Amino acid sequence: MDNEGRSKANRIFERVLSEIKPSKEETAETIAHINAVMARLKLIVDTGVDIRVVGSVARGTNMRGYADIDIFVLFDKNSRKEDIVKRGLQYGRKLASGKNDRLEIKYAEHPYTRIWLDDLGLKIDLVPALKIGDARERGTAVDRTPLHNEFINANLTDKQRDDTRVLKYLLKSHNLYGAEVKIGGFPGYLCELLIHQFGSLFKTLEFFSVASSPIILDPRTRNSTKDESLVKKFNSNFIVIDPVDGDRNVAAGVSRASLSRFILLARMFLKKPNAETFYGRGFSSISAKQLVDQFVKQTGSGLYLIETTVPDKSEDVVWPQLKKNAGLISNLLARYGYEVYLSAVWVKARKGYLLFSMPDDKIPAILRKGPEVFMRKAAENFMRSHRRPIATIVRDSTLCFLESNPYPSATALFKNVLSGKLLGSKRNDVTFKGARLFAGKIPKNLAFEAYSEMLKKITI
Ligand code: CTP
Ligand code: MG
Repeated sequence: MDNEGRSKANRIFERVLSEIKPSKEETAETIAHINAVMARLKLIVDTGVDIRVVGSVARGTNMRGYADIDIFVLFDKNSRKEDIVKRGLQYGRKLASGKNDRLEIKYAEHPYTRIWLDDLGLKIDLVPALKIGDARERGTAVDRTPLHNEFINANLTDKQRDDTRVLKYLLKSHNLYGAEVKIGGFPGYLCELLIHQFGSLFKTLEFFSVASSPIILDPRTRNSTKDESLVKKFNSNFIVIDPVDGDRNVAAGVSRASLSRFILLARMFLKKPNAETFYGRGFSSISAKQLVDQFVKQTGSGLYLIETTVPDKSEDVVWPQLKKNAGLISNLLARYGYEVYLSAVWVKARKGYLLFSMPDDKIPAILRKGPEVFMRKAAENFMRSHRRPIATIVRDSTLCFLESNPYPSATALFKNVLSGKLLGSKRNDVTFKGARLFAGKIPKNLAFEAYSEMLKKITI
């Protein structure tokens, strides 16, 4: 890229940084809050248990207004897992003992506590782990986190920490940031490692804009390879080796779609660096309804929304089930002639939503392709199994039947899904019984979620 483009990109990064880097006051306030929490925790934990602040706040890679604090309570490395989990949860309950404090138990590899402290206005993840000095001693998946802190703090310059913040914000603006399964995005630690690997945000984007698969990065040496044995070992085409544990791929949770969208974004941004590409398509809740209507009009597409009740379980459990069901429904639709352009799922207030966009045509007849006419036995079997075609058609030498579609409209098919006839009335955490179908029009109060979720699929 020429110098002019490079300086244009850097000007945009600087502007974004000024908007998203925590101010001196915010940082001072965060530190004061952390000290207050540490003082409370010291009175709570047993002797020999260390308290450590980890995550982006401790590494100077946090974004403004996201002062979520990750605190680890570290137990002797010979402790039993059940024991540290139990004591971790006890500490959490004690810490959240204020009148308006809230507490939620989260499940990662092992349970930990998320706490909202009312008087300090803080959200804290309190995670129990083992005190280890080397990843080989690891007993649980989170034990490496304090080692991540050490690696990042020893290797990133201040400028690179700022670049990490801007990279996180770029990803966030395009729904590509975060380790939750739902997003399948780039976790914070991966962002830090990418900036370390390539030296700057600009160089990171340059790398991805021309990257070919597989992408294998080793932040320990800052080398990149195409080593097929690693592709086998990690069963992935996007590998970033954890510098504190050579057996772990930090990019394991990044979905193919997220990686592809990031590559497209890097290409687009470098081709023409501008703020619009950086921030992505923003929209307000007021314009959402209009935008959905416009999309329906432009594509002439049918928009169908199923609203179901989901159990009061964590979104991490329910969301994958919704997604799986959306995939099954898309396959059914395709089988009866309705090709889905895009589908999206989300959870809101104990309701699960499955959205499908597709051509809105009625499809009274479908073509079933059979074998070559010359294959006598197969052709006879095919004719026997399709008894009453509307027409028999021979295409070149392929035998085809045009038969009437059992689901002559997408609505008919959806109704059969909701009645339980097509997929059963309940699949894992998704109940179709009592579910509602919105065909054609999305209710106004759901337009914002619908459009946000659609935008996650519509790239740049
Ligand atoms: N972590 C991890 N693997 C994950 C999630 C988290 O190893 N799948 C570790 C990382 O060391 C990470 C820390 O736990 O830095 C805290 O996680 P999180 O709060 O999700 O990320 P942050 O780096 O703190 O980024 P953010 O600014 O989004 O909070
Ligand atoms: Mg964090």
